[in-house]
Amino acid sequence: MTPKPPIAMLAELTHRCPLSCPYCSNPLELARMDQELDTQTWKRAFRQAADLGVLQLHLSGGEPAVRRDLPDLVSAARDAGLYTNLITSGIGLNEKRLAELDDAGLDHVQLSLQGTTPEIADEIGGYKGGFKRKMQVAEWIGKIGFPLTLNAVLHRRNLHQIERALEIALEIGARRIEVATVQFHGWALKNRDALMPTREQAQEAIRIVNKARRELKGKLVIDFVPADYHEQLPKRCMGGWGTTGLNITPDGQVLPCHAAQTIPHLVFDNVRDTSLSDIWYNGSAFNAYRGTDWMPDTCMSCDRKEIDFGGCRCQAMALTGDPNATDPVCAKSPHHIKVKRQAHEHAAKGDDVPLTYRQPPGKAAEAAE
Ligand code: FES
Repeated sequence: MTPKPPIAMLAELTHRCPLSCPYCSNPLELARMDQELDTQTWKRAFRQAADLGVLQLHLSGGEPAVRRDLPDLVSAARDAGLYTNLITSGIGLNEKRLAELDDAGLDHVQLSLQGTTPEIADEIGGYKGGFKRKMQVAEWIGKIGFPLTLNAVLHRRNLHQIERALEIALEIGARRIEVATVQFHGWALKNRDALMPTREQAQEAIRIVNKARRELKGKLVIDFVPADYHEQLPKRCMGGWGTTGLNITPDGQVLPCHAAQTIPHLVFDNVRDTSLSDIWYNGSAFNAYRGTDWMPDTCMSCDRKEIDFGGCRCQAMALTGDPNATDPVCAKSPHHIKVKRQAHEHAAKGDDVPLTYRQPPGKAAEAAE
């Protein structure tokens, strides 16, 4: 069966970033600036994405604001007919830059929040003064009137701040907040001892979010990603592999999900030399886990096989060494009990575990275990 066209595309414009969050989902091997796609290639990719059927373009990184051509890229994406969302830490944006992005037609801003106090936010982001600056940027965003989503990544060190995060979202005029418990890919996988939430924290977060959803209905939309190591059912990662979205890395590789490069047997096409349409429909990486044919018996015989599609392939790879395995978050996985035990062990490490910060491009090898 021919797959439907994708709805969304994540363009990782760069891996450069002033922050060094220890849960960054970028790969350990970061692309250097001289490997990044140039302006014209990104513009061509946006036109191809629109022709393919993509509706929403998420401009991300690293920190996309470090790209000097950002307004030009936004303008090209708008001309192609794409809805543009800038995913930013806010660092590197000022009032003038935001006005330029507004003139270029930027539709929406998604601002990341590392914590709700300067102490925690600056420690987690590894950037002194970052929280204060971010709140200033939020004010400018409100002044221009961009629709705003706040994006709070939560973990053991800041889960107690979840209620305050919701308050901040309201105070800065966000219409939506994504409250996402950290997913253990990329740099986060190296920081499980420091960041794994306790089971109690995970349950408390669910209680708070459910209560807030009732109380803030009509005022704030709350998207929530629970702490899945403590769950019984796996998440439907990427809405199902090769069904709804694609990612382009700074150097042009086209991935079915942001962590797909951790699956060693996959081969990725590059938008420099292959069209997005060809990659989406015919690329071997996109077809590797599409549908249900690839599934192990545990998933194939499950009545949820077309609901969660066996969970996250990258998580199966990280936790079992086999990307074809059932995501061990699923209670039916033979690895489930072991993963639960590991989660408790990581979570019990206390709050003085040092953070392994994301390193700048080119320095990944030094940080690797
Ligand atoms: Fe790759 Fe979930 S992050 S499938």
